Amino acid sequence: MPESAAVPSPPASTVRARCRTGIEGLDNILEGGIPKGNTVLVAGSVGTGKTTLTLEFLIRGAEVGERSLFLSVTEASEKLLENMRSFEFFQPGLLASGQLTLIDVPVVYAKLGLTHEELGIDEIDALLQTISRLLVETRAQRVVIDSITSLGYRIKREERIRDFMLRLSQMLSQHGCTTLLVSEIGPLPGRYSLHGVEEVVVDGVVLLGNVRRQGDILRVLQVIKMRGTSHSRAQYVVEMTPIGLLLAPHLKGARAEDD
Ligand SMILES: Nc1ncnc2c1ncn2[C@@H]1O[C@H](COP(=O)(O)OP(=O)(O)O)[C@@H](O)[C@H]1O
Ligand SMILES: [Mg+2]
Repeated sequence: MPESAAVPSPPASTVRARCRTGIEGLDNILEGGIPKGNTVLVAGSVGTGKTTLTLEFLIRGAEVGERSLFLSVTEASEKLLENMRSFEFFQPGLLASGQLTLIDVPVVYAKLGLTHEELGIDEIDALLQTISRLLVETRAQRVVIDSITSLGYRIKREERIRDFMLRLSQMLSQHGCTTLLVSEIGPLPGRYSLHGVEEVVVDGVVLLGNVRRQGDILRVLQVIKMRGTSHSRAQYVVEMTPIGLLLAPHLKGARAEDD
C-alpha cells in the first residue's frame, strides 16, 4: 500500500483558517466562516440586503480587532453610517480609531481626475494603484467593494473588465484580505454577475434573493460556492434585526413563486 494512503491528509475544509463573518447563521453554514483570504461575490437584486450583510461583516470584524475597509461606489458614507446605526452593536469609535474605514469611491475618482465616463487603461491602472495603497494604509484584513458591478460600468469593455477583475483579486489575495465583492443582478435566476467573469474569478458566491410567500416577500440567502469548505447549498430565510442578520432554514414545503 502506498505510504500516502496509510496517512490520510485532513480534508481541506478543516485546515484553512477561518474569517468569522460574525453573522452566526452564515458562519454555521460555512463551518466556522469564510476561509481566510478568499474573495467572495455577494450577489443579489436591489433590496435583498447586500449592503447590510457586508456592513455587518466589517463591523463584526472591526469589533474583534480585524481592520476593515469599505469601498463604496454606490452610496455616500453618510447613508452607510445611517445603515450601520440600525445595528445596536455598532460603535462609532470603530471609525474614529481607524479600525473601520469607509471610502467614497466617487471621491477617489475626483481626486485622481477620472472624469471620463469610460476609464482608459492608464486610468484603470491608477484606480488599482489607489486601491492597493488604501489596502496598505489601512492594513485591511477585511474588505468590501459595493459594488463591483458599478466599478465595471465605468470600465465598460469586457476584456478590460476581465483583466481588472483578475488583477484586483490577485492584489486582494496578495494582501491576505478576506473580501466581499457586491454584485448587482436582476431578479431572474441563473447568473451571479453582470459580465459573467466575476463569479469565475472569485473563490465563493453567496446569493441573496427574494421569495414570495402568502403575500409576503421573504429575503433568502444561499451559499452557491465556497472554496476551502464544504457547505450546505440550502436556502435560508434572512431576517434583518437590530442585533444583526438572523438566518433560519427555509422550509421547502412553504416555498412558492421564487422571484
Ligand atoms: N438592521 C436592519 N433592520 C431592518 N431592516 C434593515 C436593516 N438594515 C437595512 N434594512 C433594510 O433592508 C433593505 C435592503 O437593504 P440593503 O442592504 O440596502 O439592500 P441592497 O444593498 O441589496 O440593495 C433596506 O430597505 C433597509 O431599509
Ligand atoms: Mg446596496
